[in-house]
Amino acid sequence: MVNVVNGESFWWYITLQAPKGHEEVLASLAEASGCLGSEDTSRGENAQLQIYYRSSKDLGAWLERLSGLMDCWPEVSIRDMGRIENRPWHTEWMDAFPPLNVGNRLTVMAPWHSEGFSPSSGRIPLYIYPGSSFGTGYHESTQSVLSLLERAIRPGDVAADIGCGSAILSIAAVKLGASKVYARDLDPSVVDEALHNSRDLNDIPPEKIAVEVGDLLKGFDRKVDLLMANILFEPLCEMLPDVSKVLREGGRAIFSGMLIAEGEEFKKLFPSAGLKLVDEIHCGDWCGLWAEASS
Ligand SMILES: C[S@@+](CC[C@H](N)C(=O)[O-])C[C@H]1O[C@@H](n2cnc3c(N)ncnc32)[C@H](O)[C@@H]1O
Repeated sequence: MVNVVNGESFWWYITLQAPKGHEEVLASLAEASGCLGSEDTSRGENAQLQIYYRSSKDLGAWLERLSGLMDCWPEVSIRDMGRIENRPWHTEWMDAFPPLNVGNRLTVMAPWHSEGFSPSSGRIPLYIYPGSSFGTGYHESTQSVLSLLERAIRPGDVAADIGCGSAILSIAAVKLGASKVYARDLDPSVVDEALHNSRDLNDIPPEKIAVEVGDLLKGFDRKVDLLMANILFEPLCEMLPDVSKVLREGGRAIFSGMLIAEGEEFKKLFPSAGLKLVDEIHCGDWCGLWAEASS
């Protein structure tokens, strides 16, 4: 159960997941990391624990502390992270996702705010139901990919969205001109939400976004013009050597889910992966990188 901490307008959260039977391991990791409290959010085959931290420190500092403790537990992984307003979430949560302009062309919002949206703003709306999948658009790592995507995408691009969560990046790619997106995620529970967001809330024709369960680029046998991946530093490093194999000539890749210092390390790996840096962006503590296949 979460304690109420006076004087802090929001908390950080990090969600851990592991195979069933590891509930006590997750609880011990939470306790040892200095959290405020935690909540069991287990679903399906996985044990899942949402862990709350004080906002007086950066999320990166908590993440570093928790990741250090996780080294001994390879079965445990981070599912998602973000911030939660310190207020009665269960009654006010629908107000917590007001329209938010991202980049120069996009506005993300929960579907119940669509009536207030003005098409005359010239912005493209992305309607995302704030369910349990990561990707409402309010996280700075998502925003960094969306901002780079606006500039990196070309009409008719075939794209891949690795770690799609809510499918927000796939939806944005199609609305910005992609002809097809292959979206995949390690977590099977995101598939229904990704399809609901793309088909029901954003009217994307079913053939334009395919959602599948998959681990990074393992078994991915298509060629794409654009790859988007907002995951975390470690899985991004694991995937990087495979990226240029799935990019068509002149293909582009956008990466995020890294803190700024991690981004510095990550881009040093580009030359050996057949990529060159085109641009980078910092949103809060988070870093987005746009790379291109080197010719
Ligand atoms: C930070 S969220 C990004 C969600 C969304 N793409 C966005 O930009 O907001 C990371 C997603 O990557 C997924 N993920 C984590 N490890 C993965 C892996 N090895 N292969 C595929 N997806 C993975 C998680 O389940 C989660 O949905």
